Amino acid sequence: MGRRPVIAGNWKMYKTKDEALAFIYAINLSVPEKDVVETVICAPAVYLRDLVQREEDNLRIGAQTMHHADEGAYTGEISPAMLKSIGIEYVIIGHSERRAYYNETDESVNLKVHAAVNKDIIPIICVGESLDIREAGTTNQVVEAQVRAAYLNMDAEKAMKTIIAYEPIWAIGTGKTATPEQANETIKAIRGVMEDIYGKIFAEEIRILYGGSVNVKNVESLLAESDIDGALVGGASLDPSAYLTLVNAALKKAS
Ligand code: 13P
Repeated sequence: MGRRPVIAGNWKMYKTKDEALAFIYAINLSVPEKDVVETVICAPAVYLRDLVQREEDNLRIGAQTMHHADEGAYTGEISPAMLKSIGIEYVIIGHSERRAYYNETDESVNLKVHAAVNKDIIPIICVGESLDIREAGTTNQVVEAQVRAAYLNMDAEKAMKTIIAYEPIWAIGTGKTATPEQANETIKAIRGVMEDIYGKIFAEEIRILYGGSVNVKNVESLLAESDIDGALVGGASLDPSAYLTLVNAALKKAS
């Protein structure tokens, strides 16, 4: 199997430029080899370029969203071509906060996933259910529909350049984590959908992360699960030493 773990920090709308730079300086030389663990920080767009200029060999900088078009009259938006031109290699697509507050839909997620892979930017595609859905027992169906929509009309070669993040909405920023078993079960179901679309070998290779109140205390038990290949982390990614603890847990999984 050998799926390389990923720890992706999603800073959301936190940190000023000086705080962001101080964080990067604090962790830059301490993150593992990038072919052992992929260590990514998804930062606010305004200073992505400053961070890319200061990243050492192993740290990677990502964006938190983008438009699907290369250019156009879309005031305030940022295009895949713009991200590529400043050296961005990852982008979060379809985060539940974007879906909830900025009208991101399954259709726009699909357009953006295509746009990212066409520009050689790795999309971290977020899917996940609300508490109502979890309680109604329809999590797998809802997440399956999100996954199928995200990969619509995408061939396996392109799809292999993506990462999925399963983030139950009820676990984001709430301190309520899915249990490792719950997370693993849903991630296995997502892998099943990938197998159905792209076949068994593909499903064994695609990386699927968990996100939602991951912290220094629960990270090891989450990453110990068979199908969880890493984490997409909000709050706990804001502190350099907490972030490095998460990365070290991934290093342990990789070895
Ligand atoms: P928290 O880790 O703060 O719960 O946020 C999760 C998240 O939304 C990462 O994208």
